[in-house]
Amino acid sequence: MLPKVNLLDFIRAIARILKAKPHVPPTLQDNPLLETILRRRSVRSFSQREIPDDVFAAILEAGRLAPSTVNLQTWAFAVFTAESWKQCFGRPIPFSGQRAVIVLGDAHWNKPIAEMFADSPLVSYTVAVINASLAAMTMNLAAEALGISSVMLSETGRTGFLDAGYLKEKLALPDGVFPLMTIVFGYAKGPYPPMPPKLPLDQICFTSSYRGVDPAVVEEWLKQMIAGYKAAYPLSSFERQLNIYRAKIHQAEQDLTQMVFHRG
Ligand SMILES: Cc1cc2nc3c(=O)[nH]c(=O)nc-3n(C[C@H](O)[C@H](O)[C@H](O)COP(=O)(O)O)c2cc1C
Repeated sequence: MLPKVNLLDFIRAIARILKAKPHVPPTLQDNPLLETILRRRSVRSFSQREIPDDVFAAILEAGRLAPSTVNLQTWAFAVFTAESWKQCFGRPIPFSGQRAVIVLGDAHWNKPIAEMFADSPLVSYTVAVINASLAAMTMNLAAEALGISSVMLSETGRTGFLDAGYLKEKLALPDGVFPLMTIVFGYAKGPYPPMPPKLPLDQICFTSSYRGVDPAVVEEWLKQMIAGYKAAYPLSSFERQLNIYRAKIHQAEQDLTQMVFHRG
């Protein structure tokens, strides 16, 4: 159940969102990598400016060299230009992105290892998801360092794990290959959006027994999500966005059960 957000809540929530800044120790304020990591935002509006081939190649190279469990490199990247995306999916890359990569967990290519995991589909799937997600984040940060913005998508445009069944067919994926998310790349059109509400560090770190997030902090976070969403998309709402996911979850659960466990 989502909390109600009245006008005062709304104003307070937006003020808190706008005020929030990454915490950087004064001694590290000039560190360029840290600055890049903390500056990154999911960008949903891209200009028509093309990404040069060598710049995009460097982004893919960052993904190729990402860390992985036992160096298993359980990933594959479906790589698109604006044209090839349109040819494949019959519509433009979401948000007018210039390039896109569908990141897939891949437990297929490495047969000798896959056989070791033969009776443990959940382990195999989890390993693939962990590693491919790290490759995705590495590409995302490499892009940011090169002045290219990006957003990862699981729903928008039917090209994430929620449409695993559709993508399996569309991209002729063999067993053991799982669509995870699409990364859309481009030069940002306009300034970066404000940082969406992030939980405070003291709520997510613990040293001995798990504590969990204080319910009052959860409520505050929800209010900021609802208000922030309304401010960014006045014609929509956070709840409506959740409903889009909710509508697809049942099918996704069935498709993924089939793909991971070969049953369903
Ligand atoms: C795996 C993954 C899937 C995502 N899917 C979507 C999506 O379908 N549509 C969208 O607009 N944003 C999507 N996002 C972006 C998140 O909404 C965003 O990361 C989050 O709101 C935090 O904002 P930030 O990236 O600017 O820190 C996704 C992010 C991740 C990591």
